[in-house]
Amino acid sequence: MSEVNIDGFFSLEGKVALITGGSRGLGLHTATAFLLAGAKTLFISARKAGGEQGIDQAVKRLNDLATQKGLKGRAIGIPANVAQEDDIKRLVGEVQKHESKLDILVANAGATWGGPFGPTPDWSSQKILDLNVRGVFNLARLFSPMLAASGSPDDPSRIVIVSSVAGTNVAHVGDNGTIMYSASKAAAHHLGRNLAVELGPRNITVNTVAPGFFPSKLANGLIDILGGVDELSRENPRKRLGVPNDIAGVMLFLCSRASNYVNGEYISVDGGSRLGSGRLTKM
Ligand SMILES: NC(=O)c1ccc[n+]([C@@H]2O[C@H](COP(=O)([O-])OP(=O)(O)OC[C@H]3O[C@@H](n4cnc5c(N)ncnc54)[C@H](OP(=O)(O)O)[C@@H]3O)[C@@H](O)[C@H]2O)c1
Repeated sequence: MSEVNIDGFFSLEGKVALITGGSRGLGLHTATAFLLAGAKTLFISARKAGGEQGIDQAVKRLNDLATQKGLKGRAIGIPANVAQEDDIKRLVGEVQKHESKLDILVANAGATWGGPFGPTPDWSSQKILDLNVRGVFNLARLFSPMLAASGSPDDPSRIVIVSSVAGTNVAHVGDNGTIMYSASKAAAHHLGRNLAVELGPRNITVNTVAPGFFPSKLANGLIDILGGVDELSRENPRKRLGVPNDIAGVMLFLCSRASNYVNGEYISVDGGSRLGSGRLTKM
């Protein structure tokens, strides 16, 4: 007999989580998975509160799901622009009105911009770096006291950074180039490694998830330019694009007991497409 005990693997029973960019797309898939896995409080943050894509509708959907399934967890929406340090400080204060500790921070909110190399407007580079790199660093820095207050050697708190496979390969150059996005996501990977070493001793693990294409508001424009869902599916070794459960599984692994000793890693969730032919580099 070995000492393996897998009780509680993939469970988030009683956990408190904050998901930036949780109003739609990968952030909302992650929040849904956390709720179903038993999380107690889910803070959902994004800039917009109202409208079809805003936080309020996401919070309602999550809380309706909790009622329907008899789950204990509840979602709370807090609008904030996490590209701005002052707004992250305000977000910390708002979260502290409800909870004194935080178990999980998912730095998911991200921005992209695509276009030809020469005329790239400088504001687009600034916007991308402010959110995808500076914002992630500031989120980790300013929430680390709340995360450290919750983590223990046997049950560390978690930071998960949502990066992209564009952070490990040269995905798109040419007319629809995403060079600064790609560079920002590579920076996010290395930020994750640095934070893992900085925060590990405070019982906080830091890992990065690098998705391939998942249909979403952010990705749909580029998916269409590249030929659409069917064509990109044909080129993917798994013959499809990402679906909500694909991101849910990796997030639950990285935020639960199953990954207690995984720190400073990134996991690609792309069906293996990053390893395929250079089709995507021909843009
Ligand atoms: N979908 C994909 O194929 C794919 C592939 C690789 C990586 N990713 C990464 O996955 C993450 C989520 O993308 P997604 O595809 O789910 O996009 P999405 O559906 O467009 O969602 C983006 C979320 O981020 C929020 N957001 C944007 N700017 C923000 C800011 N400054 N402050 C706070 N929240 C902000 C948005 O809400 P508001 O607009 O209301 O602020 C929204 O909730 C991003 O980091 C993206 O780079 C996605």
